[in-house]
Amino acid sequence: MSSSTTSEPNLSEASAQSGFCFRCIACGDVSLRASQDFRCAHCGDLLEITYPRWSKPDSKLNLQPDRLKSTWKQRRLSSTPQDLSGVWRFREILPMLSGGVNAITLREGNTPLYELPRCSLIMGVSNLFAKHQGMNPTGSFKDTGMTVAASFARQAEFRWVACASTGNTSASMAAYAARGGLRSLVLVPDGKISWSKLSQALDYGAVTCQLRTDFDGCLRLLQELVRRAPVYQLNSINPFRLEGQKTLAIELMEQLEWQPPDHIIVPGGNLGNSSAIGKALLEMFKLGLISRLPRLSVIQAEGANALVRTLREAHGQRLVPVQAETRATAIRIGNPASWKKAVHVLAETGGACEDVSEAEIAQAKAEIGAEGIGCEPASAVTLAGLKKLVKQGFVKTKDSVVLILTGNLLKDPDFTMDFHKDEMTFASESNAAALEALRRPPLVLDATLDAVLQALKRFEQVAP
Ligand code: F0G
Repeated sequence: MSSSTTSEPNLSEASAQSGFCFRCIACGDVSLRASQDFRCAHCGDLLEITYPRWSKPDSKLNLQPDRLKSTWKQRRLSSTPQDLSGVWRFREILPMLSGGVNAITLREGNTPLYELPRCSLIMGVSNLFAKHQGMNPTGSFKDTGMTVAASFARQAEFRWVACASTGNTSASMAAYAARGGLRSLVLVPDGKISWSKLSQALDYGAVTCQLRTDFDGCLRLLQELVRRAPVYQLNSINPFRLEGQKTLAIELMEQLEWQPPDHIIVPGGNLGNSSAIGKALLEMFKLGLISRLPRLSVIQAEGANALVRTLREAHGQRLVPVQAETRATAIRIGNPASWKKAVHVLAETGGACEDVSEAEIAQAKAEIGAEGIGCEPASAVTLAGLKKLVKQGFVKTKDSVVLILTGNLLKDPDFTMDFHKDEMTFASESNAAALEALRRPPLVLDATLDAVLQALKRFEQVAP
C-alpha cells in the first residue's frame, strides 16, 4: 500500500482557505489541522468543525438568513453537479474544498418528506412525517456525510480510505471511493451485517474484511490502523462526515418552509447522526434560519442501549458501554464513539432518549411498510420510540413530529422475510396480536384460479 502523501494530511491549507477549524469537544483546543485519527492532540477526545468566520462582521452579510434561503432555493433550478447535490447546495455552512477541487457526488440528499397518515392515526399524533434518508443513492443517510468526507480525503491526496461498519457506512464509502478514484478498505463484523449491504461494498470494489469481532472491535482496530498506515478514515469520528450529515436537517427545514417541527426523532447507534442533526439545529438557530429549536430525541434498541444507560445511570457524565445485541444490525453498537456529542445536543434541544424491544421494532417496521414506504429495522426504532414518548406525555397529540428513516427497506430483506414468515422469535411479545395482523407471508399455491380466489376470500375474512 502506498500513498502520494506522507502521514501528515494536507488539511491545514484547506481549512485556512475556507475558514473552518477543528475544535476538541472536551478541552476546547482549536487547530487548523487534524491528525489521521481525528482526535485531539492534547486530550485525545473527538473533534468538531467550527467556523470562526461566521462571527466576523463581513461574513454576517453573506450569512444573512433570507439571503441564504433564497440562494439555496434558486440553486434547485441549476444543473451544475454541486447544485444538484442536496448537500453541496448548502455549501455556505459547510467546509469548502480548495479552489479547483471537485466534490465527489452522486446527487445525494434531496430526499422526500412523507406524511404518515396511518401511523398518525395509530399514534394519535396529528402531524407525523418521515424524512426518508433511505432514498439516498446507496440507500442510507451515510451518503450525505460521505460526499463531504470522501472529497476531503481526495483533496488531501490519500489513496486509501477505510471504515469500520455495520454495513451502511461501508456501502456508502465504497461507492464514493469508487466514484472518486480512491481505493477502499472495509472492516465489518463477520456474520453480523446484512447481505445486501455487504454485497454493495463488494460490487463497488472495496477490499472487504469480515473480522471475527463486533462493530466496536472493528472500530478499535481501524483506529490503530490509521495511526500506522496512510489510510484516511471515513467513520463518523471524522468530523467532515457530520458536516455533510447536517444537511438532512437543513433540507428538512426548507421542506417545512423553515417552520421547525416540535420533535425530531432519530435512531442512535454510534451517535454520529444525532450529533450532526443537533449541530445543524443549533447552527441554524444561531444563524437565525429558524426561530426555535425542535426537540431532538434519540431511540436505541434495548439490546444496544448505551446512550440510554449513560443518561440514566451516569447522568451523561461517563459512557456506560454494553455488549450489543439486536436484530437491527445497523445499530448493534455497544460503545458509541460520539456519545458526548449526543449528550450535548440532547441537553441543548431538550430531547429524550428511549429504548425499544425487538418486538416493538418489528411491529413499527411493518407499520411503516404498510404506509407504502418501508425502511430497514434500525430506522423503525423511531416509530416504536414515538409510541413510548406519546405514552409518557413527552410528545403531545397536537405536536408535529418528524421521524428520520435512515435506511431503505431493501437493506435488510432477511429481517423482512423472517418477520412475515413468522420465523422470528422475541423474548417478550406483549404485542403478539398486532404483529399477527401485520404479517403477510407469501402463499405457495397450486396454479389454479380457484386457489387464488380462496386465498383472497381467506384474507378478506381475517382483514375485512
Ligand atoms: N440507522 C442506520 C440504517 C444505520 O446504518 C446507522 C448506523 C444508524 C441508524 C445509526 O446512526 O451510528 O450515526 O448513530 N450505521 C453505521 C454503519 C454504524 O456502519 O453503517 P449513528
